[in-house]
Amino acid sequence: MLKRVVLALLCTACAVFTAFVYTRKGQQGDVPPSDTARQGMLVWQGKNCQSCHQLYGLGGYLGPDLTNVAEKGDGYMRAFLKNGTARMPNFHLNDQEIAQLSAFLHWVDRSGKSKVPAQAVHWTGSYQL
Ligand code: HEC
Repeated sequence: MLKRVVLALLCTACAVFTAFVYTRKGQQGDVPPSDTARQGMLVWQGKNCQSCHQLYGLGGYLGPDLTNVAEKGDGYMRAFLKNGTARMPNFHLNDQEIAQLSAFLHWVDRSGKSKVPAQAVHWTGSYQL
């Protein structure tokens, strides 16, 4: 009997939480990526940037997380993408590929934060920007 009550409670809690999460108002990051940003994602995948960099905290750890790097500006990103560094290879990207990667990283920047301040964390485990 007790098992059934506990099970029923858990199922109800799960249903309520699911309804709550899926009916919340969309975040600003719900904006779909432009065609240029989509092309940039293909460059990102093709050059395997993820092997050294993280997006949303996931990826390789040789380089920094790039979720919000676009906030530093196009000129800043371009300097790295055009030349590489002692630790980041120069991929000899052309101007179009750099523009596409920038558009992609701008889209990623709008869609999430890599560092969330403690006060922005909601009690449900999600966070509010
Ligand atoms: C072999 C590892 C490696 C790969 C692959 C790599 N990077 Fe990097 N990247 C780095 C490292 C390391 C840094 C930090 C600068 C340094 O220490 O030289 C960096 C820095 C950057 C920065 C500046 C970040 C900041 O906040 O200062 C950008 C932008 C960047 N990389 C973009 C890219 C993109 C886009 C790609 C794919 C085309 C890529 N990287 C591929 C290693 C890599």
